[in-house]
Amino acid sequence: MPQDFMWGVATSANQVEGAWNEDGKGMSIADCERYNPHQDLNDYKRVNSMSTAELNQAIKDHSTKKWGKRHGVDFYHRYPSDLKLLAKAHINAFRISIAWTRIYPNGDDSEPNQKGLEYYDSLFKTMKDYGIQPIVTLSHYEMPLNLVLKYDAWFDKKVADYFVKFSKTVIDRYHNLVKYWIPINEIDSIVRHPFSSAGLVEDRFPDQNFTQVIYQAMHNQFIASAKITAYIHKNYPEAKVGSMITSTMVYPYNSDPRNMFKATETMRENYNFSDIQVRGAYPKVLLDHMKKIGVDIPITQEDKALLEANTADFVAFSYYSSVCTAYDTTGLKITKANRTTGVYNKYLPESEWGWQIDPVGLRIILINLFDRYQKPLFIVENGLGAKDALTSNNYVHDQYRIDYLRQHIKQMLLSLQNDGIDLMGYLMWGSTDMVSASTTQMSKRYGLIYVDLDDNGNGSYTRTLKDSYYWYQKLLSFGTEIPTAYLEND
Ligand code: BG6
Repeated sequence: MPQDFMWGVATSANQVEGAWNEDGKGMSIADCERYNPHQDLNDYKRVNSMSTAELNQAIKDHSTKKWGKRHGVDFYHRYPSDLKLLAKAHINAFRISIAWTRIYPNGDDSEPNQKGLEYYDSLFKTMKDYGIQPIVTLSHYEMPLNLVLKYDAWFDKKVADYFVKFSKTVIDRYHNLVKYWIPINEIDSIVRHPFSSAGLVEDRFPDQNFTQVIYQAMHNQFIASAKITAYIHKNYPEAKVGSMITSTMVYPYNSDPRNMFKATETMRENYNFSDIQVRGAYPKVLLDHMKKIGVDIPITQEDKALLEANTADFVAFSYYSSVCTAYDTTGLKITKANRTTGVYNKYLPESEWGWQIDPVGLRIILINLFDRYQKPLFIVENGLGAKDALTSNNYVHDQYRIDYLRQHIKQMLLSLQNDGIDLMGYLMWGSTDMVSASTTQMSKRYGLIYVDLDDNGNGSYTRTLKDSYYWYQKLLSFGTEIPTAYLEND
């Protein structure tokens, strides 16, 4: 394994920090996302959208019970002890995001909030003391609510400028402590869940084609991201900037070439998002697609030059599961994946949330992305959401999570050894447990460290190390020489 390989964990501010209205923090869109367990497939649409009525209800109600992202897991106050536990597990990298609303509570404030800046000063310094490299996402499913109500969020170019301003503030402040930046989490996700990704509320655009609105906001995100990349490369050349996409592996339902074609097309649609950031231009197939669906967004010569000149240094991605697809899905069993659905794969087991567990899919994604871009890859999310139980003598026996991690890490190592890829690191999703992004559930747990808190926000927030914590700790203690036996089945 590469000597400087980054082994660690990943989180986002809105899912762990809590303290939603402390120390000058403004209300964010994540603070408005309600508990929504979406146990059946038809609920998926609701998971991915937001209405003005729901938003108004959230603004009026100041409780944290139904709006779990408001309390998170109290990382805001408990980061010193959480980081201590993570350092003991030998992690050397930790992906966090900076909450825009802690720095500019309304988004359009003229001056940043000092207390917010000081919080991240302290967080990054503590990480440095433990020898933990921060990987920082600048926009991870949150933005000031004020920018939604006043400007219609990322649809308005002004908001993109405010985001660039926020980003420059934190980049200037923390450049000595942070070397790796990811401007936008899963930049493709705007087409699937436009509210949490970009603050777009469909009923606020009654006279417009909402698809057009989404693509305009998407373009604004790409432009802001390129401006941030330019700023970092010019002022802090030692720092690195990553593009980031959601990677759900898509297989043909069977060997019917029409199904293979459909799978190829679906994967390509996903890669088109990283194409823009890694290759520096909108691919023709995407421009043609936009035309076909009646989307017409102005992409100026200046925009094109900006995208071309400011490409990403590394290609980051999340990977959880895979689905199948077919040109005709009539009568086929449908299953869930990361805020999407697909045809069920009879060869794979599934998580309690119906996401199909597919370690080999990770290896295929690594090959696909490396062959496509020839740039360093970075697995910045991979993990299992599961219902864990705390035993009466304070254990969490999450063998299923150990199996998930072991199988995925094994495929990653096989890929490193055999596929000629360049991989910077592996960050599992979940340090402590945290509030689920899509469902705002606490019971969908991802962490190595159990947090005593339920879906209603009841609990002591006490941390308990899970079996998976000890397993990961031992794995990381091997450094770059992992014994093959450790990754074999028990
Ligand atoms: C990723 C997101 O797509 O999926 C994370 O970047 C999220 O924020 C993760 O938590 C898992 O999804 P969920 O909905 O199970 O929390």
